[in-house]
Amino acid sequence: MLIRDESAADRVSVRDVHSAAFRDHPFSKGREGELVDALREAGALTISLVAEAEFIVGHIAISPVTIDGVALGWFGLGPIAVLSEHRRQGVAAALIDAGLARLRAAGAAGCVVFGEPKYYGRFGFRSHAGLRFAGGPPELFMALPLASTMTLGAVDYHPAFALVG
Ligand SMILES: CC(C)(COP(=O)(O)OP(=O)(O)OC[C@H]1O[C@@H](n2cnc3c(N)ncnc32)[C@H](O)[C@@H]1OP(=O)(O)O)[C@@H](O)C(=O)NCCC(=O)NCCS
Repeated sequence: MLIRDESAADRVSVRDVHSAAFRDHPFSKGREGELVDALREAGALTISLVAEAEFIVGHIAISPVTIDGVALGWFGLGPIAVLSEHRRQGVAAALIDAGLARLRAAGAAGCVVFGEPKYYGRFGFRSHAGLRFAGGPPELFMALPLASTMTLGAVDYHPAFALVG
């Protein structure tokens, strides 16, 4: 399996992977594929990686977030999706590792994620008192500082996330 940057030819497959992966998700409105398209359109799809076997089986999007309304080099991980028949083989983990490696290489200040603490904890994500997100339960919101100093404040994702909020 290959992890690589998306190309223009992958756009339909990327949308389809999200549609299929989120179809049975209890809290999803099924608009994650649209969200990825909207981020790309807005120039906010900073990192877009696909997992390719014989075809595209997974995708991760990473986009800038603001803290107290200011762009400080922090990013948000997600949405991430893997086709159901390719799950539990480390595809998502490989996408996350590669995405975080890109952020580190680019000198990002940090990354946030909203999701399952048990899963994202493996990658170093933790809840940080003082880094807040109004969009959901605080225990599901985690941060991974990538610079030597931690930033505190209220985090906002790109406005396109209203599609899935
Ligand atoms: C969440 C999602 C992306 C995970 O994809 P994945 O490729 O299965 O993820 P991984 O394989 O890295 O890890 C998933 C689990 O498989 C386990 N696993 C990883 N490699 C494994 C292997 N070789 N053998 C057995 N289990 C393995 C992991 O430990 C993890 O276990 P957990 O149940 O304790 O969390 C996928 O389930 C999905 O697309 N879900 C729908 C969309 C979604 O919810 N996205 C997240 C919100 S944005």
